Amino acid sequence: MSDFDTIIRGGRISTAADTFHCDIGIRDGRIVALGEKLGSADEVIDAEGHWVLPGGIDSHVHISQPSGDGIVMADDFESATRSAALGGNTTVLPFCMQEKGVSLREAVKAYHAKADGECYTDVSFHLIISDPTEQVLGQELPALVDDGYTSFKVFMTYEGLALSDLEMLKVMAVAREKRALVMVHAENYDVIRFLTDQLEQAGKTAPRFHATSRPVIAEREATYRAISLAELSDVPLVVVHVSNREAMEEIRRAQQKGLKIFGETCPQYLTLTENDLDGLNMEGAKYVCSPPPRDTDSQEACWQGLQQNVFSVFSSDHCPFRYDDPQGKLTPKGRTSFRWVPNGIPGVGARLPVLFSEGVRKGRIDINTFVAVTATNHARAYGLSARKGTIAVGMDADVAIWNPDIEQTLTHAMLNDGSDYTPYEGMKLTGWPVTTLVRGKVVARNGRIEAPKGHGTYLKRDLSGYV
Ligand code: URP
Ligand code: ZN
Ligand code: ZN
Repeated sequence: MSDFDTIIRGGRISTAADTFHCDIGIRDGRIVALGEKLGSADEVIDAEGHWVLPGGIDSHVHISQPSGDGIVMADDFESATRSAALGGNTTVLPFCMQEKGVSLREAVKAYHAKADGECYTDVSFHLIISDPTEQVLGQELPALVDDGYTSFKVFMTYEGLALSDLEMLKVMAVAREKRALVMVHAENYDVIRFLTDQLEQAGKTAPRFHATSRPVIAEREATYRAISLAELSDVPLVVVHVSNREAMEEIRRAQQKGLKIFGETCPQYLTLTENDLDGLNMEGAKYVCSPPPRDTDSQEACWQGLQQNVFSVFSSDHCPFRYDDPQGKLTPKGRTSFRWVPNGIPGVGARLPVLFSEGVRKGRIDINTFVAVTATNHARAYGLSARKGTIAVGMDADVAIWNPDIEQTLTHAMLNDGSDYTPYEGMKLTGWPVTTLVRGKVVARNGRIEAPKGHGTYLKRDLSGYV
C-alpha cells in the first residue's frame, strides 16, 4: 500500500503568507504532509516549474437563479462548476434567491435540488433576502443561520429585490443577533429609475446608456448609506462588486474609523470600461452589468483597493446570460431599451487567469496577495477557513497547479461555460491553471474535466471570521 493517495512533487507553493518549495502528501482528500522525500503514492503529479496555490474560492457567483420574464441564466450547477474548475477554482458560493412571497426555507430546498449531484467543485449557498416578512426575520432566517447559511445579500436596487432602509435595518438586526454576515448591492434605486425614465424619453435606449443610468454618485451614495446602516446596527458588512474610486474611498474611510466594513471588486472593474458598452448594434449588451464598468481612473482605484487591502475579496460576480438569444441579452423582440437587458456577465472561469496575468505577472500585486484575495480571505469571510483557503496540513487538498509562464489569447472556448461569449475575449494572458484538485481528486487537467460530476459537495459553513 502507498504512503499517500497523491503526492504533488517539486512545485513552488504560495499561501497568503509565504512562498516555499516542498512536496504535498494527500490522503483521503486532505493534506497530511508537507516536506521532501515523502514516500510513495498512487499518483505522483510532477509540478516542477509550476506554482502550487490554494484552489480559488469564488464567493460571488449566480447559478440557475430566477431572472424574470422569459430570461434564463446560461449556467446550471454542472456548467458553472465545470468552468470554475477549469479556471482553477475548488469552491464557489452562489446565491439562493428568495422570490417575493416564497418562503426562504422552500427556496433553499429547491436550490439544493438543483445543485445535488451536479457539481465538480464544492459549493455553499449565500441567501438573498427579498421579502423580509415577520416569518422570515423571526423564524426562517435565524434557523437557516444555525443550519450553516451564515451570510446573506441585500439589494438597494432592482425591481422585486430592493429593500427599503427600514427593511435593511430589520435584516441587519437579525444578522447582529445571529452573528451572520451581510453583503450589500449598493446602488440608489430611485436615482436609477429617474435617470432611466429620462434617458428613454430622450430616445437614448442603446446598451451604453445603461452606464449613464447608473452613475458613480448612485453607487457612492448607497455605499455610504449601507455603511451608515451597518454602523448603526453594529454589524460587519461586505460591500460587493465595487466599481469606482468614490465608493472605494467610502469603504476606506469606514475602515479607518475602525468599522468592520469589507470590500469586494471583480475582473470587470479592472479590465473593462463603459466604452465597452458602445459596441455596434446590441453588442454592448455583452457588457451590461451592475454597477457598470466605469473609466480608467476607476480601474486604477480598484487596483489600489486590492493593493491596499481596502478590498479583501476579488470575486467574479459570474452572472451569465447568452448573448445571441432572446432568453438572454437580446431580450424578446419589442423590448429594445437597455432597461430590459439582463444585468450580469460571465466570469467564473476567467477570474483567476485575468488577475494572475494582469495583477501578478504585470507586477501590480504579489502572489501572496493574489492567494489572499482569491481564496484565503473568502474562506475567512464566509466561514470556511477550518477546511479551505490555504495549503497546510489538515486542510482539504484543494489545490490549483499553475503554469506561470504560458502565454495565450483568451477565447470563450477555453472557459467551457454555458454562455456563448466572454467579455474578456482576446485578452493576452500569461499564466494558466493546468490542474485543479478538489479534496485530493484531479477534477480538471490540461483543459479537460476528469472527475465525475457530483464529486463537488455542499459545504455547511461556520460563522464568518469577519464577525
Ligand atoms: O449585473 C450584475 N452584477 N448582476 C448580478 C446580480 C448582482 O447584482 O450581483
Ligand atoms: Zn449585486
Ligand atoms: Zn452578483
